[in-house]
Amino acid sequence: MSRVFRMEPSPPRHDSMEREAVVGADRVPASGVNGSGIVAGYLAPHPPHLIYAENPPQNEPRSTGGWEVLRWAYDEVRRRVRALQPDVLVVHAPHWITMVGHHVNCVPNPRGISVEPIFPHLFRYHYDFRTDVDLAEALVERCEANGLVSRAMREPGVRVDYATIGALHLVNPAWDLPVVSIGANNNPYFYADAELEQMEVLGRATREAIEATGRRAVLLASNTLSHLHFDRESDLPEDMSQEYPFNNHQYRADMTLLETIRTRPTPALRAAIPEHIAATESETKSGSLTWLLAALDWPDTTGDVLGYGTIIGTGNAVVEWRPKELARHG
Ligand SMILES: [Fe+2]
Repeated sequence: MSRVFRMEPSPPRHDSMEREAVVGADRVPASGVNGSGIVAGYLAPHPPHLIYAENPPQNEPRSTGGWEVLRWAYDEVRRRVRALQPDVLVVHAPHWITMVGHHVNCVPNPRGISVEPIFPHLFRYHYDFRTDVDLAEALVERCEANGLVSRAMREPGVRVDYATIGALHLVNPAWDLPVVSIGANNNPYFYADAELEQMEVLGRATREAIEATGRRAVLLASNTLSHLHFDRESDLPEDMSQEYPFNNHQYRADMTLLETIRTRPTPALRAAIPEHIAATESETKSGSLTWLLAALDWPDTTGDVLGYGTIIGTGNAVVEWRPKELARHG
């Protein structure tokens, strides 16, 4: 069995003098006071194949590689996040599904094995990370203040889902940043209509909590795009000769959305995201992408598409958005 990896990250920096000193060096400024605020947001899809292909020591299965172009996109995300020097990663993921209320993981040190239920032969990942409990609790408070039913999850035995672990590993495999993990308060696989309205409020609550606690935060929306996928797997899962879009309709709908992302300010996505969901069963129906853009306050900027590729036929894009004030640093 693989050893459990654990790193001891530094606590978030609260001291304003220290923060000013860092900002005064090479740190990219943020929109808030003393360098705090949301400094970037990423669409960060989580298919377990990407981690399987990378062969990190935390994951038990071994591979010969695969899905390189998407993994190179994540290499670029890792470089950018490190340059941004955030205090915390905040992730919204679709596979921690709650039927009542918006739940925030407030367990100080989640530890365990995350297993992908459909692909346990690809993903059995030993995780051990630290939660930014102050920010997590502030988020619960801001959710309630904004009228959302919400709950602090404090059960240390609850297994962290693979969509949360996947996005966090792919963006920060060193696990040297604290985390705030948010569940998805809906069931994207049973309800026909996306329930995105509350994601607007959850995004606002997230921004308020980050500003109130003075954090520099990077946000992660752990969503795949077009979501129809093959029901057969080749003998070698990473056989790239068997990797292609599920069909041309799904591919074209993804390209339509990505062209909107690349060429139009984010308010255009308020209409484009539901249209894309209707066309593709996109995993964004769980709300992660709408939450991310709402937290960024729908900036008047385009997104930076860093990569696109299919995984068992699904469409996956890695995209960065910066707050409007920081777009020039992209
Ligand atoms: Fe998923």
